[in-house]
Amino acid sequence: MGERIVVSGRVLDSEGRGVPDTVVEVWQANAAGRYVDPGDHHPAPLDPNFTGAGRCLTDAEGRYRFVTVKPGAYPWGNHENAWRPAHIHFSLYGPELGSRLVTQMYFPGDQLMQYDPIVKSIPDRRGRELLVSRFDWETTEPQWALGYRWDIVLRGRLATPREAGDER
Ligand SMILES: [Fe+2]
Repeated sequence: MGERIVVSGRVLDSEGRGVPDTVVEVWQANAAGRYVDPGDHHPAPLDPNFTGAGRCLTDAEGRYRFVTVKPGAYPWGNHENAWRPAHIHFSLYGPELGSRLVTQMYFPGDQLMQYDPIVKSIPDRRGRELLVSRFDWETTEPQWALGYRWDIVLRGRLATPREAGDER
């Protein structure tokens, strides 16, 4: 249930080359802002058909693609009237376990980002912008789903910032 979306992009190295065969894992709240997690007590409905988790391997050009629903914002009790902006958690494994990247992808124009301590923990504006996907007409499929593009850069000057430490 919710707004069906396609989230797609490439995993890139510091030279802009696609990184093939990388495990990309995602987890997220459902459209109502609720996780399939016994620790989630947000009184929003669960969707019996939505697990909120997925995994794939990048292809030869480093591409990944997920069909999902747009996650809802949810309250998290971190501070007064605290709401997480809509986001999808990403975990990537490089060639070894020590090169795991855990981060979060956001959606363009989300007004909650300016209040979010996890977003604000990334000190520079460009780093924060690197976590925002863009609406993409090419990824959008007629009669089916809106498309968002998000490239993940593993290393270098444009590296995707890793998260400071949010478990959900
Ligand atoms: Fe979350």
